[in-house]
Amino acid sequence: MPQLIAGNWKMNCLSAEAIALAEAIAAGASGITAELLVCPTALHVAAVAKALAGTAVAVGGQDCHQATHGAHTGDIAAPMLRDAGAGWVILGHSERRQNHGETDELVREKTVAAVEAGLRPIVCVGETADQRSGGQETEVVGWQLAGSLPKPFDGVIAYEPVWAIGTGKTATEQDVAVMHAFIREELVRQFGDAGQTVRILYGGSVKASNAVSLMAVPDVGGALVGGASLNAEEFLTIARAARAG
Ligand code: 13P
Repeated sequence: MPQLIAGNWKMNCLSAEAIALAEAIAAGASGITAELLVCPTALHVAAVAKALAGTAVAVGGQDCHQATHGAHTGDIAAPMLRDAGAGWVILGHSERRQNHGETDELVREKTVAAVEAGLRPIVCVGETADQRSGGQETEVVGWQLAGSLPKPFDGVIAYEPVWAIGTGKTATEQDVAVMHAFIREELVRQFGDAGQTVRILYGGSVKASNAVSLMAVPDVGGALVGGASLNAEEFLTIARAARAG
């Protein structure tokens, strides 16, 4: 399976910037064997999807509600994202877990809703700096995986150590190898053989300068890129570092 290189644009870009960024990525995508995905803010999903129609770059949301519709002021339902042209959605990002109090159980409900709406979920897990310095990183990620994934699980995992997000600090290749092997074991424990083929992305200060070494780590199925995905050329350089299969 090709690696998946996904850009999480977070709360960045006005509409013209989002469209220009998407177009620049699509224009440079020829010859790239990785699967490409960009996740603009929900407000721009439809415009970006329109700009990317017929290209190799897919579009995703950054969150969705667990209900299909109803009295949930300010929220966005998975079928709405799908209707706007999204094929994917990021769920349980640490910024949502921290800033919006999202629990594993809620992330699991959102994941079910996303799959039912025809979206492919990217479920994020990862430990904080304190949890890692306390030696609890695998325990924490194990609990997140056990609580956040519905059975069966048809999606992608993103391992994003919280201390590496937006900090310029990247997990070492050894840290990533150990954690991805642990996540693989947990997926197989939870889902049997189906757990062998789930892609596990790494996220946390991925940039052009470290992508080649990170993408070569065993069991790394791609990258979830924040800051560096806001620059088309840097994002494309990361994508060129990806393995084809
Ligand atoms: P940075 O690449 O900016 O560290 O962000 C990572 C991230 O949170 C992607 O979801």
